[in-house]
Amino acid sequence: MITMEHVTKRYTEGGAASVDDLSLVVSEGTTTALIGPSGCGKTTTMRMINRLIEATEGKIIVNGEDITRVDPVKLRRHIGYVIQQVGLFPHMTIAQNIAAVPKLLGWTETKIKRRTEELLHLVGLDPQEMLKRYPRQLSGGQRQRIGVARALAADPPVLLMDEPFGAIDPIARTRLQDEFRQILQRVRKTVVLVTHDLDEAIRLGDRIAIMKSGKIVQYDTPDTVLSHPADAFVENFVGIDRAIKRLSLFTVNDAMNSEVPREDAAKVAPNSNLRDALALMVAANTDVLAVVDGGGVVKGQLKRDAIFSV
Ligand SMILES: Nc1ncnc2c1ncn2[C@@H]1O[C@H](COP(=O)(O)OP(=O)(O)O)[C@@H](O)[C@H]1O
Ligand SMILES: [Mg+2]
Repeated sequence: MITMEHVTKRYTEGGAASVDDLSLVVSEGTTTALIGPSGCGKTTTMRMINRLIEATEGKIIVNGEDITRVDPVKLRRHIGYVIQQVGLFPHMTIAQNIAAVPKLLGWTETKIKRRTEELLHLVGLDPQEMLKRYPRQLSGGQRQRIGVARALAADPPVLLMDEPFGAIDPIARTRLQDEFRQILQRVRKTVVLVTHDLDEAIRLGDRIAIMKSGKIVQYDTPDTVLSHPADAFVENFVGIDRAIKRLSLFTVNDAMNSEVPREDAAKVAPNSNLRDALALMVAANTDVLAVVDGGGVVKGQLKRDAIFSV
């Protein structure tokens, strides 16, 4: 869906390359997280995809078309864009904000209204409560949800997101990330997500591109990045706790057995991730947890050894 071939960006002629001979393929319906230290070229890479920034060299193909052959304004109407900072138009109501692109595309009032309400439900907000409000009357988390709704309004196949959950407090951020992941299961999109938060990249990315000085140093699944960092830079970037972070990619279901646990064993839910399960073991000072589902039915047990061999 998105192909970048040997793309370089120099902001000044003959100056240093902010993005340096970068190649990247993002398959349809998948999410790629671009991650790396500040200034490594993440935002520049992303903004070249919708031509907010023009590449100096190289080729970018979106949905089969060389983007230099597409009118940038038209291109952007088919690429949703979510950013942390600027976000919403302050003088427009929430309804008007979400309707911005559909209006440009000439949708009828009825169709826009229906779509707006549908999107608010999708991002977990109440249309009655939200439609007539202005952005300043919303919390940071609500504004971020509206930002996502607006980007999805015209149902674009591609979504670019630049640190979309960055300004939100950690608890709300985790919840929004989970909700966003659920949204993506319902509306299949090809997503490029810029983040400097490794947990966010792990949680949302089907693949992670780790960048350094305008180049991609590793492009792999979260599992591979965490279990087999390509070099010392990646290893250092993912951190000493990478093995523990990797456990968050698996659930209790992946490692449990069907033996009957002791009655006094501490409990864990089958859909908990293994990182949390291990934390429960540490807290309870035990090697075995009882796996109990939401209805209180005992499903089996989870042993510490099994966690370590996923
Ligand atoms: N408009 C600009 N003009 C000149 N240099 C820029 C501009 N935008 C970004 N840069 C430089 O390009 C490099 C990459 O920036 P950016 O893509 O914003 O990095 P990131 O998003 O990874 O923090 C940095 O060295 C930055 O200073
Ligand atoms: Mg940036």
